[in-house]
Amino acid sequence: MTKIAIIGSGRIAWHLGRRLKAKGLPPRQVISRTAAHAESLARTLQCDWTDDWSALMPDIDLAIIAVRDDAIGDVAAQVAPAAPQTLFVHTSGATPGTVLAPHCARFGVFYPLQSFSYDRVPVWSKIPFCVDANSAEDLLLLKKTAKQIGNLLYHVDDKQRSSLHVAAVFANNFTNHCFAIAEKLLEEKELPFELLHPLMEETLAKALQNAPALMQTGPAVRGDQETIQRHLNLLSGHPEWQKLYSSMTDNIIRQHQSENPGAGASDFSNE
Ligand SMILES: NC(=O)c1ccc[n+]([C@@H]2O[C@H](COP(=O)([O-])OP(=O)(O)OC[C@H]3O[C@@H](n4cnc5c(N)ncnc54)[C@H](OP(=O)(O)O)[C@@H]3O)[C@@H](O)[C@H]2O)c1
Repeated sequence: MTKIAIIGSGRIAWHLGRRLKAKGLPPRQVISRTAAHAESLARTLQCDWTDDWSALMPDIDLAIIAVRDDAIGDVAAQVAPAAPQTLFVHTSGATPGTVLAPHCARFGVFYPLQSFSYDRVPVWSKIPFCVDANSAEDLLLLKKTAKQIGNLLYHVDDKQRSSLHVAAVFANNFTNHCFAIAEKLLEEKELPFELLHPLMEETLAKALQNAPALMQTGPAVRGDQETIQRHLNLLSGHPEWQKLYSSMTDNIIRQHQSENPGAGASDFSNE
């Protein structure tokens, strides 16, 4: 059985650690900088723990480094010397696997593409695991591990993953920011955010079923300048949101014109 150590004790460490245990791959050791966090996770996983970076068990097969992106290299430098035979992976979408190269002979990436929070139960069967390794053998080991705890598996190299992460920022972080702005605008008029829930659900359902660019509706694709101007006036008390509105509107118009040369903005309406 693959002997696994979890390095870090944040959201990913908690969720991955518990999933590995539940699927018959119980982690043997947790290492993290805050003793109380390491101990708490290790208690849940019923395994050893330490806050000493140099105390990684030397017979660990797979060490999963799940710490803040900008600490991955430093942590690997401290942890790896104790276990030169071990395969080290990090879980970051934004960080190249090669940050591990100066410290580990065997390295890779084990990136679960989902937004994890402590208070949400991950639906593992729907989480894509994007894996990569610096050898074919280790890639196979990571694929097997991902298959054991999940269902969707992709081999994604460093270059692909960095673009994938930018795409994820658009699909998740920026979309969510737009939801937050919408909620505040409604709050100002004492309207409940629930009013928008059906629209939000329909937007996602359509984007999942069809090419999102083809599903675009609203004043920008209609070329409805009067409405756009009214919206901009309404946003005069929020200059940052006004800027965002203008930039999004311009971008939607340009995108549609470039994909449909020769047509005017109003030709793109599907409302
Ligand atoms: N959360 C997500 O949705 C998600 C999804 C996919 C991938 N990831 C990736 O998974 C990794 C972990 O993310 P997370 O969400 O689990 O983060 P998190 O909940 O914020 O936990 C961060 C962990 O990193 C440790 N840490 C922070 N700075 C450190 C430093 N300078 N030196 C050593 N350890 C340090 C923290 O230790 P303390 O407990 O001592 O603070 C904690 O254990 C990141 O690479 C992230 O990009 C996250």
